[in-house]
Amino acid sequence: MTSSAPRIALVTGANKGIGLEIARQLARSGLRVLLGARQVALGEAAALLLKDEGLEVGVVHLDLGRADTLRAAAESIHRAHGRLDVLVNNAGITDPADGPPTQASMTAVRRIFDTNFFGTFEATQAMLPLLRKSSAGRIVNVSSGLGSIALNADPNSLFASYRLAGYNTSKTALNMLTVQLAAELADAGIKVNAADPGYTATDLNGHRGTQTVAEGAVAAVRLALLPDDGPSGGFFNAAGPQPW
Ligand SMILES: NC(=O)c1ccc[n+]([C@@H]2O[C@H](COP(=O)([O-])OP(=O)(O)OC[C@H]3O[C@@H](n4cnc5c(N)ncnc54)[C@H](OP(=O)(O)O)[C@@H]3O)[C@@H](O)[C@H]2O)c1
Repeated sequence: MTSSAPRIALVTGANKGIGLEIARQLARSGLRVLLGARQVALGEAAALLLKDEGLEVGVVHLDLGRADTLRAAAESIHRAHGRLDVLVNNAGITDPADGPPTQASMTAVRRIFDTNFFGTFEATQAMLPLLRKSSAGRIVNVSSGLGSIALNADPNSLFASYRLAGYNTSKTALNMLTVQLAAELADAGIKVNAADPGYTATDLNGHRGTQTVAEGAVAAVRLALLPDDGPSGGFFNAAGPQPW
């Protein structure tokens, strides 16, 4: 890769919310951004918005629940670009039938894990051969402060009142994957970090979040653009390191 070649980034769940904003900010930083979308029409509509802003983006069909789309996405990125420099694992869900451990619907818990953990894990494995071809690969797992065991265990933390057994544990599992992957990929020059966007107004929470998507995208964008001497295997929000 020459220094003038644009870096290639894939953002999952980029047709709306924080993912769309991460895509926008990465494109503004000069990256060639691919919007991952499980419904291509929604991805195309989001891409049009960004193209109208003068940003260079593409769309990739990517459904975390469908391994065939993950394989096809990797193949199409390989054909078009030969590598991937940045993977932002942003796509994620909540479920209204989630709740405290004694009440959460197991169907909801499994559904959440299928997307937030297993799907994200599988998408990462699918993209790894392309990331290994980058001279400076970056993986950003969009986690949540709700996934922090330390914050859940602190009765004085705001997070202690959000007992979502499925969602919170899915993000804790993603945090563990972050640490393990970072260690395994250290020699490959691929940095892997987890980002907590903070409570952000999106469809995920009925727009009750207190931050804008521009604020919610800050931590993930910073980790996606890390220089070679940046950290790996960490958990960060916009203000800095978060406790695991
Ligand atoms: N908003 C917050 O306060 C907050 C706080 C902490 C962490 N987060 C995390 O931030 C990330 C983005 O959330 P958001 O608030 O921007 O939510 P959002 O507006 O609901 O967007 C979620 C995105 O994920 C996509 N998605 C869902 N399931 C998918 C699947 N199986 N395959 C591919 N894409 C899928 C959605 O696609 P469709 O449009 O097709 O459904 C959508 O593009 C999530 O990981 C979330 O857990 C959010």
